[in-house]
Amino acid sequence: MKDKTKLAALGRPHHRPAHPVNTPVERASTYLFPTYDDYLEGAKSITYGRLGTPTHRALEEAVTALEGGFETRLAPSGLQACNAAILAFVAAGDHVLMTDAAYDPTRKFCEKFLKRFGVETTFYDPLANEEDIAALMRPNTKVVFAESPGSLTFEVQDLPAIAAAAHAGGAKLVVDNTWSGGYFCKPIALGADVSVQAATKYLVGHADCLAGTITSADEPTSQKIYYALLQLGSNVSADDAWLALRGMRTLSTRLERHQENAEELVKFLAKRKEVERMLHPALKSCPGHAVWKRDFTGASGLFGAVMKPVPLAAMKAFFNAFKLFGIGFSWGGFESLCLHVHPQNYRSATEWNEEGPVLRFHAGLEDIDDLKGDLERAFAAMAAALK
Ligand SMILES: Cc1ncc(COP(=O)(O)O)c(C=O)c1O
Repeated sequence: MKDKTKLAALGRPHHRPAHPVNTPVERASTYLFPTYDDYLEGAKSITYGRLGTPTHRALEEAVTALEGGFETRLAPSGLQACNAAILAFVAAGDHVLMTDAAYDPTRKFCEKFLKRFGVETTFYDPLANEEDIAALMRPNTKVVFAESPGSLTFEVQDLPAIAAAAHAGGAKLVVDNTWSGGYFCKPIALGADVSVQAATKYLVGHADCLAGTITSADEPTSQKIYYALLQLGSNVSADDAWLALRGMRTLSTRLERHQENAEELVKFLAKRKEVERMLHPALKSCPGHAVWKRDFTGASGLFGAVMKPVPLAAMKAFFNAFKLFGIGFSWGGFESLCLHVHPQNYRSATEWNEEGPVLRFHAGLEDIDDLKGDLERAFAAMAAALK
């Protein structure tokens, strides 16, 4: 099946002579077994709410097919999906290699939390090649973590090269695949052991719940993830699993439109005198562009713009003039967003030396002319504030 078909066909109920099109929400903590034999048999399937209901299984099935993995487990947020996927493979005395462009809370989990338990983390240049990673590997390196592209600075990572170096040193490659929605990039086919998504973004797609997905390439890897989540007592509500599956039905259509609107906005912004340069993997100037062309089939709606330096008052006027772009964390919903971000605060292996502010845009599904009009309004307000 091609991805568009998987998104429509998988995770649906097939078990009754007549059944609803979609898997319904099954809210449950307790399951009752009619007999003792059923209880013994039951241990192999659905037993207790925290271990997943048929609603969770349906979402897992669809994500596994989309990511091209062996099995998917769910987490209550994207952050916990990233953290559990690391935690599953480390113990006191181990070492983690993490991209310098990782989402800051994932970075903090390693820098602060894992450190308390004797796990050390080294950050690497997101543009590292196989030799660079090999040189940073230690005998105790258990996880190499990638996020491609980085969600603030958009460097695209060479996953096959990083996988080769990680595997040569006996480590797992875990990839945060949120930007591609699992649709434009398949980290497992590129050599990753685990592909993680903040389903909160494109899978859910409507900015109304949080969830994470962890897809493993093989059974032993998946077992480790399962036990990590089990021991953490992790749970996703059946309602949220249902919302994520519901979101996935329209993932391909939405992503193609996010891509189209983002491309238009990038062209529009690149021509503005207030903009220094654009950060978008489909641009030749974006670090890792050639890798993006080789490994991705498209680009989603999230991109950045490095602005020319402006006083804070002008920046405030720009943001306050928006009628459509929301000032908000997160992305991946149907709505357009813009956020002033500070990559220089989240780096240690590399430096971010741009003088001007960085704006991160999410191109939503609105009409492109209305979005351009909103930006024109914001630039006019900025110009007025500079007079
Ligand atoms: C790249 C990336 N990974 C992970 C996360 C964490 O997702 P959540 O907010 O669902 O915990 C985010 C959230 O912004 C993100 O941008």
